[in-house]
Amino acid sequence: PRSTLFPYTTLFRSPPVTMGRKPIVGGNWKCNPAETAKLDELVANFAPCAELLDKCDVYVCPSNLHVGMIYQKFAPGIMVAPQNCNFKGCGAYTGEMAVDQMKDMGLKCCLIGHSERRGEFGLPTPKESNELMATKLAYILEKGLMCVFCIGEPLPIREKGIDAVLAECVSQLKDIVPILKALEDKSRVVIAYEPVWAIGTGVTASPEQAQETHKAIRDWIAANVDQKTADEIRIQYGGSANAGNAGALSAMPDIDGFLVGGASLQPEFPEIVKAIVAARSGSAEGVSSGRSEERRVGKECRSRWS
Ligand code: 13P
Repeated sequence: PRSTLFPYTTLFRSPPVTMGRKPIVGGNWKCNPAETAKLDELVANFAPCAELLDKCDVYVCPSNLHVGMIYQKFAPGIMVAPQNCNFKGCGAYTGEMAVDQMKDMGLKCCLIGHSERRGEFGLPTPKESNELMATKLAYILEKGLMCVFCIGEPLPIREKGIDAVLAECVSQLKDIVPILKALEDKSRVVIAYEPVWAIGTGVTASPEQAQETHKAIRDWIAANVDQKTADEIRIQYGGSANAGNAGALSAMPDIDGFLVGGASLQPEFPEIVKAIVAARSGSAEGVSSGRSEERRVGKECRSRWS
């Protein structure tokens, strides 16, 4: 069995064991920017990601109102993923967005289940339920798109400890078990684990805390879906991720990338992509200083032990 933390990875910069999962980093612009005049600048921030796409999938979630204006402005391969969809298709669904429309536009991905849609910013209307999420996920997959499926626990649950956190995540995942079982290409569903207490707060989960939770989710998937899904499904971390903390988080074997909010509106976004690419290739480039010394020490230790 895999050990939980793989401390060597940070020390020696050898790539963590990730079963060949391709990392994936997304930027969620939420309900930003206020002015359309800012869009070109935000799109330009993503340009350096284009050359990393063979090593890392990249997507962006512009605000719903802006998707149609800019979806063709990103470099080919950078996926534009709307922040929500309806559960049915086109027709008399005022205020909704259908996956059929996304497919027609050539979009490849859709994000659902963000905690802010599950009621965390105080929606005065009923929350989007787990059952609704499962219906939406099935609809997205049936139309041939991939899905970023967000889950995560609020602070009072985190304060109770990892068992309570896992139970909360499981409550958000259990309805999609049959869908995951039936899915052939497991890379088409990406779980974005976003602890609510870390979103927009500047308080990031520590690498160990995030790894422990990602591993618990993956182990639960192994036991309740199947081992293939557990090995192949990608689990992103979201919650105050930025260029400064992405390197340490990327060294964790069960963190397959990031869902970035605030920092995806900044020029630093490509640095986050570079951080996970560097961690997965075993290169410390962009991750920390003193790396040649670490490599030398790592090599010496490895040859001594082998
Ligand atoms: P922040 O990165 O701003 O904390 O937001 C995370 C998030 O909610 C992305 O969906």
